[in-house]
Amino acid sequence: MFNKDSLTRREVSQLRSQRWYAPETIRAFAHRQRTQQMGFAREEFMGKPVIGIINTWSDMSACHSHLRERAEAVKRGVWAAGGFPVELPALSMGEVMVKPTTMLYRNFLAMETEELLRQHPIDGVVLLGGCDKSTPALLMGALSMDIPTIFCPAGPMTTGKWHGQITGAGTHTKKFWDQLRLGSITPHDWIELEGAMTRSIGTCNTMGTASTMTSIADAMGFTLPGASSIPAADCRHPQMAAQCGHTIVDMVWYDHKPSRWLTKENFLNGIVAYMALGGSTNAAIHLIAMANRASIQLTLEDMENIARRVPVLANLFPSGRALMDDFFFAGGLMAQLKKVGRFLHRNARGVTNHTVEEWIKDADCYDDDIIRDLDNPIIPLSQGCALAVLRGNLCPDGAVMKSSAASPQLRHHTGPALVFDTHQELSDRIDDPELDVTKDTIIILRNAGPVGAPGMPEWGNLPIPKKLLQQGVTDMVRISDARMSGTHYGTCILHVAPESAVGGPLALVQTGDLIELNIDAGTLNMQVDEHELARRRSALKVTHKVFGRSWAALYQQHVTQANEGCDFDFLQSGSDIPEPPIF
Ligand code: FES
Repeated sequence: MFNKDSLTRREVSQLRSQRWYAPETIRAFAHRQRTQQMGFAREEFMGKPVIGIINTWSDMSACHSHLRERAEAVKRGVWAAGGFPVELPALSMGEVMVKPTTMLYRNFLAMETEELLRQHPIDGVVLLGGCDKSTPALLMGALSMDIPTIFCPAGPMTTGKWHGQITGAGTHTKKFWDQLRLGSITPHDWIELEGAMTRSIGTCNTMGTASTMTSIADAMGFTLPGASSIPAADCRHPQMAAQCGHTIVDMVWYDHKPSRWLTKENFLNGIVAYMALGGSTNAAIHLIAMANRASIQLTLEDMENIARRVPVLANLFPSGRALMDDFFFAGGLMAQLKKVGRFLHRNARGVTNHTVEEWIKDADCYDDDIIRDLDNPIIPLSQGCALAVLRGNLCPDGAVMKSSAASPQLRHHTGPALVFDTHQELSDRIDDPELDVTKDTIIILRNAGPVGAPGMPEWGNLPIPKKLLQQGVTDMVRISDARMSGTHYGTCILHVAPESAVGGPLALVQTGDLIELNIDAGTLNMQVDEHELARRRSALKVTHKVFGRSWAALYQQHVTQANEGCDFDFLQSGSDIPEPPIF
């Protein structure tokens, strides 16, 4: 599987772990002694690549509930290839359980990954994760350490079914919730759905953030080619995990670390996949953060340029009709990449040191309706794309939306703002029958960004007021500095930057102001004159909660804005940290 061409094999003495294990010192004695204490004989670890397995398993992360078993499969591969596997537990961020939002902790896991690798005698690492933020977090940490790294995606869950209908995680939850609010399904149906929608191990089975990020990691070359499409419950999934273990040992011997193969072209390939899959807007933040960790310049404009040329081709929820099981059986990511081959940098390489051209040349598509050709997109470019970038006096540093999920009649829309300062206020008032709102109103939520919330929760799919739902309104223009779940849809403008909490123009909007959205022109403006804006700016007061201690305080002090990746300013790039001294 690993291509050794043009690479030079290292000597044992060049392994990083040898600094811990090889010297004839009292410290190295203690390292060998403590390893033997766990039952490993000297010959089982001495002179072998030490492979860290960063495992984000926990009982609070349903999507990762199988990762203890997968870690065993990885170990099997490592042992078979002559390495020494060690499992390192790390923060588990189950998207649904973690409050207020996993995004608050993405940088935490990234830091933990980097520091776990730095502080231990690790030569190469297999990263086990997949639920939304885990993928970028694990990769950000490993990129900062720059040691041989392979990502083993958790794999999507099995298709959900209820009363004969296919149900996708996330996407359908929102749909059924709206139906429950309207009385078109019963409370009994709602309880039944709990057990029917997410019925196996694995990550969400739609093209939500999890599948978007694992597919991007795959297209960039961080996984075994095609690994992201393998369902978690399929027997080929543990086989893939074992193969990751085998491959990482070769990667260590040939020092195949990210800085040796990862270029901007890999990121651009990841973006091509992102657009073709109709992926989550969250990826726009994570890609920039990951690129910064590798000291690669990547901007919203890079994504915009590709989004304008690559339509949504994968017929997957929430853009289309199928789920990740169907995508796998239709040929998976490699088949989809082959169909967008003309946009790919095909000489780029990944963890196996094979080129993209080599990955995709034998890929077959078995269902042209699920994995579509460029001339038969699921959503034509004229109707939108996976990522539209907007600019204007409301979002000078950009805002994003999934324009393919917007309603055609709202693509160019002017309406009066209805502003909510907090999510609590929105929740309290949105279903009030007296709320002054029409289908033309533009609903705005602020103080929901990286600093304001803090952690930029997925609140951006702002609810439609109940009284409008009852009138048959299914979409409205909604604006926030929050993010939106990749499983959701609607005319939702997200990631407004700078956010309101740091004084961005969103903080200046007042209920009743006219806002103009023009998706085709890429603009978002409030029709308020400069003089009035200056007056409001001078009267601006801090309205978000400022934390004085805890992780939230550190986060608020150092997080960057959405267009910069929401990483911590002191972690973004450079690898000027020395190896730890061993005394
Ligand atoms: Fe974990 Fe969706 S909740 S992937």
